[in-house]
Amino acid sequence: MLQITLKNENFTKIDADVSVVLVIDKNLKHEWINHKSLKKWGFTSQSVFLDQGDCTLYIPIEKLDSDCLREAGALAVRTLANYTFKTAKIGFYGDDSQMSAFALGALLSEYSYTEFKSKTKEKSLQELFISTQTYLFKKHTTNQEWLKKVYILAESTNLARDLVNTPPQIATPKYLANKAKEIAQSNKIQCKILTKKDLKSEKMGAFLAVSRASSRSPKLIHLSFKPKQPKAKIVLVGKGLTYDSGGLSLKPADFMVTMKADKSGGCAVLGIMNAISRLGLEVEVHGIIGATENMIGGNAYKPDDVLISREGKSIEVRNTDAEGRLVLCDCLSYAQDLKPDVLIDFATLTGACVVGLGEYTSGIMGYDESLKIAFETSALDSGELVARLPFNRHIKKLIESKIADVSNVASSRYGGAISAGMFLGEFIRDEFKNKWLHIDIAGPAYVEKEWDINPFGASGAGVRAGVAFITDYIQNLDFANTKGKK
Ligand code: BES
Ligand code: ZN
Ligand code: ZN
Repeated sequence: MLQITLKNENFTKIDADVSVVLVIDKNLKHEWINHKSLKKWGFTSQSVFLDQGDCTLYIPIEKLDSDCLREAGALAVRTLANYTFKTAKIGFYGDDSQMSAFALGALLSEYSYTEFKSKTKEKSLQELFISTQTYLFKKHTTNQEWLKKVYILAESTNLARDLVNTPPQIATPKYLANKAKEIAQSNKIQCKILTKKDLKSEKMGAFLAVSRASSRSPKLIHLSFKPKQPKAKIVLVGKGLTYDSGGLSLKPADFMVTMKADKSGGCAVLGIMNAISRLGLEVEVHGIIGATENMIGGNAYKPDDVLISREGKSIEVRNTDAEGRLVLCDCLSYAQDLKPDVLIDFATLTGACVVGLGEYTSGIMGYDESLKIAFETSALDSGELVARLPFNRHIKKLIESKIADVSNVASSRYGGAISAGMFLGEFIRDEFKNKWLHIDIAGPAYVEKEWDINPFGASGAGVRAGVAFITDYIQNLDFANTKGKK
């Protein structure tokens, strides 16, 4: 990973192969911009421009907000990857939050999955110096805590990306379970793996049905992070389909490709757990991942089967490709036994969510509007795009079944993201209804054309949003407590 070093020196004094200069207004006069050069080359503020004489990379930026700065960081790293500069430097107009956004963008865009490439291009850029003497105010910032957080976030996002990108013949349920154990061991996390036998004694009839035709046995991964004085208990649940062929309701060939990414929710949960423990947040966090394949075979579960879930509700199977909700309903049941203050599931649950919101945005669902808004606010701050999708009683009727308590698909072809969310809602007990959120990350989880800070492949969607939500949740609790004491 690129090394970012903070330097308490004036930008102009730092020695580096190339300077990176953000240009908001090209008419702005300051010592970093070589106006003559910009004029000569016709810099338009629309594209990046490398002044090879001065060794200065100009990056146009619309605003100095964190979204633009994050993207500028990504653009800088992506552009410099085409050159041989080993070191780069940058200075800022503003404060730590600006530097932090830029640094995160730089680190996240630098990622690539090269495990199976025989030849990989050596990365030339090794180190980025950030001047902590900001330009306009000549203010010295001394707090370097933010850089540590940026690295934890980037490493945790890349951890999720690596797992999702790993091809499905390697990244099996057992592989995920072993990775979870490794993550637990290198952090202060406990790890328990439930095998097929355990799932049977837990009466997880829905989860087991999905896994039945796979030659790889299912695993329920349960990670727990328990600091000494936790301020709250948060339980995260992740869809960990290491492959989704659709089952007997087989996916068409073109739709099956990329379904190794159907474990993205589970991998996001692993990334979040890793980040929370490294940040040492005072919150008890559990991560529960339902890891299995959805395959075909003589013993596959079938459309028309009726399954009995862990909650005791019967489910009519009408489409075996709506498998994620079957795995999740049993995992959510297990999760509620832990009595969480907040329960959040992450899943690449529906193609409908991608149709509705586009491929950049995750859907937030649940019964409690203020909890949905809280997640939305934190996620947007973190740089992930999200939008709230509303439940309603008419859509609930679409998942009624004539022969069982609920059907695994809706009777209408519209509103599929919401009906899937409402299916999960059927398995949430009344006391947890207002504590539960469902995040459908089907859109942004896997990137087929790079955008924002995301290179090709797994994006690690859910990691930044989840960490931001938990951080903000704890901070708000502290705030409420101090207010109460006054
Ligand atoms: N894993 C898919 C959802 C998905 C689709 C994720 C595209 C990422 C990109 C899920 O298991 C699925 O197949 N859902 C079906 C549900 C349908 C059968 C009701 C879908 O969305 O088509
Ligand atoms: Zn499916
Ligand atoms: Zn799926």
